[in-house]
Amino acid sequence: MRGLIATTALLAGVQAAIDPIVIKGSKFFYKTNGTQFFMKGVAYQQEVNSNTTASDADSLQITDPLADSKSCTRDIEYMKKLNTNTIRVYAIDPTKDHKACMNALADAGIYVVADLSEPGNSINRDNAEWTTTLYSRYTSVIDELMKYDNTLGFFAGNEVSNQPNNTMASAFVKAAVRDSKAYIKSKNYRPVGVGYATNDDADIRENLANFFDCGDSDSAIDFWGYNIYSWCGDSSFEKSGFDVRTKEFEKYNVPVFFAEYGCNTPRPRQFTEVGTLYGKQMTGVWSGGIVYMYFEEANEYGLATVKDGKVTTNKDFDNLSKQIAKATPSGVKMADYNPTNTAAAACPKVTSGKWEAVSDPLPPVANAELCSCMMETLSCTVSDKATEDDFGDIFGYICGLKDGQYCAGINRNVTSGTGTYGAYGMCSAKEQLSFALNTYAKAVPNGCGFKGKASTKSANASPSGCSNLLKEAGAAGTGSVTSSPKASGSSGSGNSSDSSAATGLVVPGMGMGMGMYIFGAVASGMAMVLL
Ligand SMILES: *[C@@H]1O[C@H](CO)[C@@H](O)[C@H](O)[C@H]1NC(C)=O
Ligand SMILES: *[C@@H]1O[C@H](CO)[C@@H](O)[C@H](O)[C@H]1NC(C)=O
Ligand SMILES: *[C@@H]1O[C@H](CO)[C@@H](O)[C@H](O)[C@H]1NC(C)=O
Ligand SMILES: *[C@@H]1O[C@H](CO)[C@@H](O)[C@H](O)[C@H]1NC(C)=O
Ligand SMILES: *[C@@H]1O[C@H](CO)[C@@H](O)[C@H](O)[C@H]1NC(C)=O
Ligand SMILES: *[C@@H]1O[C@H](CO)[C@@H](O)[C@H](O)[C@H]1NC(C)=O
Repeated sequence: MRGLIATTALLAGVQAAIDPIVIKGSKFFYKTNGTQFFMKGVAYQQEVNSNTTASDADSLQITDPLADSKSCTRDIEYMKKLNTNTIRVYAIDPTKDHKACMNALADAGIYVVADLSEPGNSINRDNAEWTTTLYSRYTSVIDELMKYDNTLGFFAGNEVSNQPNNTMASAFVKAAVRDSKAYIKSKNYRPVGVGYATNDDADIRENLANFFDCGDSDSAIDFWGYNIYSWCGDSSFEKSGFDVRTKEFEKYNVPVFFAEYGCNTPRPRQFTEVGTLYGKQMTGVWSGGIVYMYFEEANEYGLATVKDGKVTTNKDFDNLSKQIAKATPSGVKMADYNPTNTAAAACPKVTSGKWEAVSDPLPPVANAELCSCMMETLSCTVSDKATEDDFGDIFGYICGLKDGQYCAGINRNVTSGTGTYGAYGMCSAKEQLSFALNTYAKAVPNGCGFKGKASTKSANASPSGCSNLLKEAGAAGTGSVTSSPKASGSSGSGNSSDSSAATGLVVPGMGMGMGMYIFGAVASGMAMVLL
């Protein structure tokens, strides 16, 4: 009977019934019957070109794991043998149709937790930004996956800060958490959580967990994913450090789970940690975990090898299936559970060389409408003749003058210890450069030149529907804009499509590596070439 209903639902193009997962306190529950939900997860994302290295992320080719119903229905049969109830996907293509896979997953009782970024369109730990281009990627993934009841949550970032010298990047990730949460609310979607997947770096892990959990709850994570590989071979609760990690999260007020686990030295993996993860020592604190990963690739973490469309399971698969079959975590009932944990009492203090992300203010809301409004007011903008190199040169020149005063409106001085952000620092590269050019040209006679790379246009001092936003930003762009972007689909003029931003052009951050390099180059005569 159940099968019949499911088939009818599929034929009608409606999603098979699956009970959404909800969050209460630091635990997940099935919404309807209130049974606690423990993730038995598998990471599910194939890289076409497993040759590429992280520094090559722009050219990393990924395959949308939820767009091809043939491969996903094929793999679901194997996931079932691992009692899988959750998969983690790292990069879907929101323009594709995911109905068949999402329905087949729902039919198998499998939920999806999805990263919102994609390679080449994510927050860069060495030159972090949170921009309208990223916002548009994030919100399009949210829109696509919110069609399905088995969407469990989203990650606003994965292992972005991974050592003390790039902790400032976390401020931009937290801005992404804030804006993604606000977007879900503004669209009246069901309350699906937005979290972060952290790496396990001893120097920063405690500050990271506190940073994302502290302060205004509208900006704080809804769950915390831990990528952890410290249980290797014949290890134990104590030897792996799982005991200390568990203690650390005892008082955490949102769900925590392993967003990736499964150390692969030695191979085949024994997965003896499974018994502990789903046993009494950990289930009071952790909501299970996600094994990294389904596909065997160059990094040798695969549970299965897929070749010419055929699946062969690996020894790791057999070991995991034996271990997971024995895992019977027992939890609490939602109605009997009264959460008492509270959010991190204090945000981490900014200490040079230790923790450098300012908690308040966070980088500005990525608001494409504000950027379009600003563009209308300009009388000097970057011309279509400017190349990527020109962008770098002109930014470097203008922002290097007068202590960066022409660039205050696009500033993101993350090293200041106070969080100094211009209102337009979240706009596309072209918009940011145009703002800086315009500011410069107003101050310097014949400033709108740069050998034809800048051009004049007619300005509209008060474009319609913009007065509030522009007032908040202020003439110099140093104000703080508190208005939220209009949700897509509403009448907003927001248009963040911009070829230079879409190709991944990096805007030099003031006070960071690349910006400094450009400032240095100015001294060696680059300005002469441009002026
Ligand atoms: C609650 O619902 C889930 C999924 O619908 C099911 O797997 C679980 O067994 C149910 N719990 C109880 C106690 O019936
Ligand atoms: C991987 O790199 C090698 C050496 O650069 C190259 O010959 C090979 O074609 C690459 N494989 C893929 C799948 O791109
Ligand atoms: C942090 O240090 C590494 C070297 O350990 C360097 O490659 C990287 O660029 C630095 N990042 C920042 C943001 O300074
Ligand atoms: C894992 O697999 C290997 C090879 O198949 C086997 O020798 C070993 O006993 C398995 N370990 C567990 C814990 O199942
Ligand atoms: C957005 O802007 C781009 C480039 O300026 C333009 O080509 C495109 O048509 C615009 N899209 C919308 C929906 O206005
Ligand atoms: C960043 O801010 C600090 C403190 O306000 C200041 O000393 C420093 O010069 C600024 N750096 C840049 C590149 O603007």
